[in-house]
Amino acid sequence: MSRADVLVLFGATGDLAKKKLFPALYEMEATGELEIPVFAVASSKWSQEEFKVRASSSIRERKAALEEPVNEDVLNKLLGKLFLVVGDYKDPLTFTKLREALTGFNLPVIYLAIAPGMFTDVTQGLANVNLTASARVVVEKPFGRDLSSAIELDESLKKLLPEDQIYRIDHYLGKESVEDLLVFRFANTLFEPVWNRNYISNIQITMSEDFGIDGRGKFYDEVGALRDVLQNHVLQVLTMLTMEPPIDMSSRALQDEKVKTLSSMRELIPDDVIRGQYVGYLEESGVAKNSQTETFVAMKLYIDNWRWAGVPIYLRTGKKMAETSMEAVVEFKQPPRQLFSLKGSKLPEPNIVRFRMGRHDGVDLSLQAKSPGSALITNTIDLTVEFAAALGERKEAYERLLDAAILGDHFRFTRIDAVLQSWAIFDDVLKAPSRLQPYFEGSWGPEDALDLVPGGWAICGKAADKNP
Ligand code: BG6
Repeated sequence: MSRADVLVLFGATGDLAKKKLFPALYEMEATGELEIPVFAVASSKWSQEEFKVRASSSIRERKAALEEPVNEDVLNKLLGKLFLVVGDYKDPLTFTKLREALTGFNLPVIYLAIAPGMFTDVTQGLANVNLTASARVVVEKPFGRDLSSAIELDESLKKLLPEDQIYRIDHYLGKESVEDLLVFRFANTLFEPVWNRNYISNIQITMSEDFGIDGRGKFYDEVGALRDVLQNHVLQVLTMLTMEPPIDMSSRALQDEKVKTLSSMRELIPDDVIRGQYVGYLEESGVAKNSQTETFVAMKLYIDNWRWAGVPIYLRTGKKMAETSMEAVVEFKQPPRQLFSLKGSKLPEPNIVRFRMGRHDGVDLSLQAKSPGSALITNTIDLTVEFAAALGERKEAYERLLDAAILGDHFRFTRIDAVLQSWAIFDDVLKAPSRLQPYFEGSWGPEDALDLVPGGWAICGKAADKNP
């Protein structure tokens, strides 16, 4: 694999560039990893100066949010590497200008941080000026809107680029806490023997956000919670949690195992899915007044393979919920005989492994220990690890993904067969979406979703808020 010698960023004035990509470039500059110049392409008619002001203010905002100082030397060095090419993505002249700007560079990484509907047009524009010959093209999720559009998009991209030049992003694959699922499972002999239907009673994954659509109404209204995060981020987490061990840590071995697990997931029908929309969503700018887009989705699914047959898996995600959290809970079965509970009293809590993959990531083990006193009864104890405290600070997902694309490493990107398989699970559900239920901001979604897990969700939000 050779290192790319230039990075090209389409969508440089968009939301993703502002929130994630410029801050990631700054961090790469700080660690000396960004050795190459960055050419940004945008349709907004900005001057070089205005563009640099925008880039630096997005970095300052991010650092302020993290309560970290900005290193002015690093920032200036980065700004010295940024160049803007202005032009409409449908105008052939834009690509000619870009071609000229890239004279002398041989191996570009071209990042398409643009609306999915524009991927093919832009790739065609790049191919017309012969920029795709050696380029690595990074495309953002969602890859398509459903199975058939993903197949169509793949076919049109493949006419211009082979699979090994396409890098499909799901930024959850860049998160260290998501990668840790593999390490936790396959580097510790303690868990793997019990990681199956014989010992595990259910799995629950919650990705909840206490904020809304943050000015992204137009994008979000066409996408909704299932396409925005469940089909990709949440399913990636589930796959890492349930897949078989790959034969080695090569990208190919990993992807092969993921595809096997994804193809064992039972396809859902509309009745399996609870869809919600927060009250007030229709008033958001960019949202259609009669929008039927869900901002919350919950479901129960099964993996019909030897390891997981019969184990219910509960997934939910939503905007404007009670809190922001990204957690996977693996709940174990009760011991075969209850030796430590008094007759008629509540059973001890089951053992739980809780993976926290949000801002304060870590792992918790919930176990039973002897309660103080003469009676032989138990209390629940939690063994908790905060990764930042135990292991030190780690890199942000986008830094790792940009770095991997520059290096030409596919390990943290999705392969097309996995993407198609993940759409296939939801094909019927997307064709005939279930009824939309309202929920209040700050709740845990519609009432029906709270009742989905017998005994309640182990991840926060046990108490039902009163919904409309
Ligand atoms: C993005 C979605 O892919 O992931 C957003 O489009 C969501 O709607 C975001 O908020 C969550 O990412 P993270 O890394 O903050 O959990």
